[in-house]
Amino acid sequence: MKLKLVLKRIVKWTGVAIVLAFSVGLIALLIAYWRSTNDCDRLTAVQGDTMKAIVYCDYGSPDVLKLVEIAKPVPNDDQALIKVYAGSVNPYDFHFMRGEPYVMRMGTGLRKPKSTRLGVDFAGTIEGVGKNVKQFKPGDEVFGGKTGAFAEYVCLSEHSLVMKPENMTFDQAGAVQIAGLTALQALRDKGKVQAGQKVLINGASGGVGTFAVQIAKSFGAHVTGVCSTRNTEMVRSIGADQVIDYTKEDFTQTAQRYDVILDTVSNRSLLECRRVLNPNGKYVIIGGAAGRWIAPMDRVINAALLSPFVSQEMGMMLAKVKQEDLMILRDLMQAGKVTPVIDRRYKFSEVPAAIRYLEEGHARGKVVINFDL
Ligand SMILES: NC(=O)c1ccc[n+]([C@@H]2O[C@H](COP(=O)([O-])OP(=O)(O)OC[C@H]3O[C@@H](n4cnc5c(N)ncnc54)[C@H](OP(=O)(O)O)[C@@H]3O)[C@@H](O)[C@H]2O)c1
Repeated sequence: MKLKLVLKRIVKWTGVAIVLAFSVGLIALLIAYWRSTNDCDRLTAVQGDTMKAIVYCDYGSPDVLKLVEIAKPVPNDDQALIKVYAGSVNPYDFHFMRGEPYVMRMGTGLRKPKSTRLGVDFAGTIEGVGKNVKQFKPGDEVFGGKTGAFAEYVCLSEHSLVMKPENMTFDQAGAVQIAGLTALQALRDKGKVQAGQKVLINGASGGVGTFAVQIAKSFGAHVTGVCSTRNTEMVRSIGADQVIDYTKEDFTQTAQRYDVILDTVSNRSLLECRRVLNPNGKYVIIGGAAGRWIAPMDRVINAALLSPFVSQEMGMMLAKVKQEDLMILRDLMQAGKVTPVIDRRYKFSEVPAAIRYLEEGHARGKVVINFDL
């Protein structure tokens, strides 16, 4: 009888504790939401040297993007100041612009974006260097990535920069950082692609896909690219040995088996993809299947749950900025083994239109921003 009473009390107080914790959490979240702010009110009240940059004060469609005059950055002792000539847009940019999936707002700002600057990929010329910078000098032509690259100038550490190969235009070099690094690291570090292996790239005609086809070929792999009818010739022309037109054939329903699948689209279930993987194959999630709340993280969680029970490796890879990897990409481009595929060029003032186009999901290679147009 006494035990029953104790158990009843435990259940009752546990329930009260859960409700209390939930209520406190909810109130904390609401306060954090309303306190979430950014530097927009101070951004344009600038004195001294200025530059044009794309900023966004609120999450939303490309309409939230504004081209405004802000303070020109000044390099510290370890940084270089770069005059930007070209850049490119990536899905990364519109995820930050929209604050979607919402789960990412835990880090980027709940109600408003903490950082109001957009863009990552750039190429340009070094205008000035801090006193500790050893690898570069004014006048050097470089490329790399830096948050806020939709701007006339960027400042960043010399360790995130590499020299632009002479055989490349600024437009080409400005298209490399995110897509090129993603393709390289996914194939080499997650896919562990070896010469002679069969690699399938789902989304072979996109920004990441066009780099992945060429890099996989440079590793000596046999490459199959998946794209729509209008892109089959382009994907073949950059080196794919086989092309599957997804409007006519489902790559998960063929008799072929692959050692590595790089998935930038994630439009087939994990089990369907597993069907066409060799027993020791690797399935690498790059992106796609994005949703408003958590997707594509649900796919990543499912892959992690499935992995221990199957012989294949399945998981996501997140690209990291590494100067040595940018150097590898530079060498591949210098040797003519990789050439960025450029779909369209937009003016700097047309960044919103470029993002709108990219969001349609059918870019053929990279969408470039050219600051001289
Ligand atoms: N994990 C990371 O670190 C990382 C890094 C970069 C990007 N990503 C993610 O990777 C994804 C791709 O990025 P991206 O820059 O390559 O994007 P993107 O350039 O916009 O890719 C567009 C391409 O996807 C193709 N596509 C659309 N539907 C398809 C389908 N059903 N089957 C095959 N291909 C299809 C389109 O070809 P068609 O016109 O022929 O349909 C188009 O060429 C995004 O979700 C992005 O967020 C992740």
